[in-house]
Amino acid sequence: MTYEMIVTRTEGPDSRQVAIVTLNRPKQLNALNDQLMDELGRALKAFAADDSVGCIVLTGSEKAFAAGADIGAMANYSFADVYNNDFITRNWEQIRSIRKPVIAAVSGFALGGGCELAMMCDFIIAADNAKFGQPEIKLGIIPGAGGTQRLPRAVGKAKAMDMALTGRMMDAAEAERVGLVSRVVPLDKLMDEAMGAALTICSYGQPSLMAAKEAVNRAFEGGLSDGVMFERRLFHALFATQDQKEGMEAFVNKRKPAFKHR
Ligand code: HXC
Repeated sequence: MTYEMIVTRTEGPDSRQVAIVTLNRPKQLNALNDQLMDELGRALKAFAADDSVGCIVLTGSEKAFAAGADIGAMANYSFADVYNNDFITRNWEQIRSIRKPVIAAVSGFALGGGCELAMMCDFIIAADNAKFGQPEIKLGIIPGAGGTQRLPRAVGKAKAMDMALTGRMMDAAEAERVGLVSRVVPLDKLMDEAMGAALTICSYGQPSLMAAKEAVNRAFEGGLSDGVMFERRLFHALFATQDQKEGMEAFVNKRKPAFKHR
């Protein structure tokens, strides 16, 4: 597949690769327009369907993961334009449907839709120069790709309201302190760190990875009892996989497991 606004590659052992997707509109600080989001959705779907890919890393440039949705492209949209064309839902929601783990490796600006895109990933590893924000209020709009929902779930109401109402940016240290990102590393170590995490993830069995992702996501999407029940049933179901037998037998026999992703 050919892309103009993203770059894709794979790395790692042939049987179990990490797919790296790089947002690539550097002059516009990776502002997210429809073409870019269409391409990203296509790439993610292709990697999701590729049995040799175990984990996906989404990244941008040193200066910007993404400085938001493309303001120039949106400036003249009318209500009918955005409603009739299902703006955002049409292509951004693809990311949520990817069942394999997706790590956001964020350096530089992750603002507006860029912050929302990072939050749609399963977790965020940030470079020490990362800056997160939901500055839509400055443009007379509000976040439109889940920011008002995922940010408070990640960092609590006080910080989320502060960000959404003032439009201020949060640096990497604050983002780690409040739980928006899982790790902060020096800029020149960002991809090594993300690849290390991705390769670790790739070493595990696919059914249990997908089940873990589904179960953790449930914590964000429903009540506690339902979430715990959902987790319990997935947990029970994993005892029907070969990987569970292999993983536990390998532990008992003090050897490395050879997962079959079955
Ligand atoms: C279109 C953008 C852009 C954006 C930057 N650019 N952000 N173009 N949409 N979101 C363009 C600039 O116009 C400029 O183009 C070039 O990228 C470099 O940006 P500068 O502003 O010159 O860089 P700098 O001075 O370093 O400032 C960086 C910045 C600033 C602080 C990130 O660019 C900025 O505030 N950007 C907008 C951030 C924002 O409001 N994001 C939310 C968008 S709304 P030229 O041609 O002049 O060189 C949104 C809604 C989401 O995301 C709703 C659902 C998805």
